[in-house]
Amino acid sequence: MTFSDPIWSKQETPVWIKLNKAEYLKACVKEGLRLFFGALRGSARRNLVAPIVYKDWVIPSGTPVGMSAWMLNTDPEVYPDPLAFRPERWLPGNHKPEMDRNFASLGRGSRTCLGIHLVYVFMKHLLVAMFGPGDRPELTLYETEESDVATTVSGLSGLAKRGARGLRVVVEWMSAC
Ligand code: HEM
Repeated sequence: MTFSDPIWSKQETPVWIKLNKAEYLKACVKEGLRLFFGALRGSARRNLVAPIVYKDWVIPSGTPVGMSAWMLNTDPEVYPDPLAFRPERWLPGNHKPEMDRNFASLGRGSRTCLGIHLVYVFMKHLLVAMFGPGDRPELTLYETEESDVATTVSGLSGLAKRGARGLRVVVEWMSAC
């Protein structure tokens, strides 16, 4: 299913059950989130009551332990050509379990993003509203280079280079009639 498939029309509000079946739409959301990284490094956790044993390592109680969404989300063995936006990698047939294992944009484990389901719902609705059939905005890139948006600096979330002006677009309203 692609964005132009009639999962939504002016007469019909998009419904979750239909959006959730749109494999290419889901793949775009996953790939967008993967390259957005969420929190580049989640806040560190500490086990205050016992050491953490991982394989041959014993991490003393109280040691802050964290993970890097950058390293997990751009592991070339899991996501070949990792900085390329390729939604197709998430489609059935291409999608491998290790892609879910590495995906860290919404955190992991007991402190996973509380808004995780809301994120998927609103991103799907937003993409269909912007790129689906019917009346929609037409966006044209305006004076934006890749370096204006590429993650370069690690804050809590990823930031573009100092002085970057961000993603700028000219918006025109297109009527389907
Ligand atoms: C695209 C949007 C979003 C992204 C990428 C995102 C990402 C994340 C990440 C990576 C964490 C874990 C941080 C860590 O490990 O320290 C987190 C935690 C959290 N997020 Fe989100 N989030 C998003 C939207 C939302 C929304 C819409 C809500 C609420 C409606 C929300 C509520 C929370 C809360 C409450 C936590 C803390 C959970 C905890 O520590 O127990 N987030 N988010």
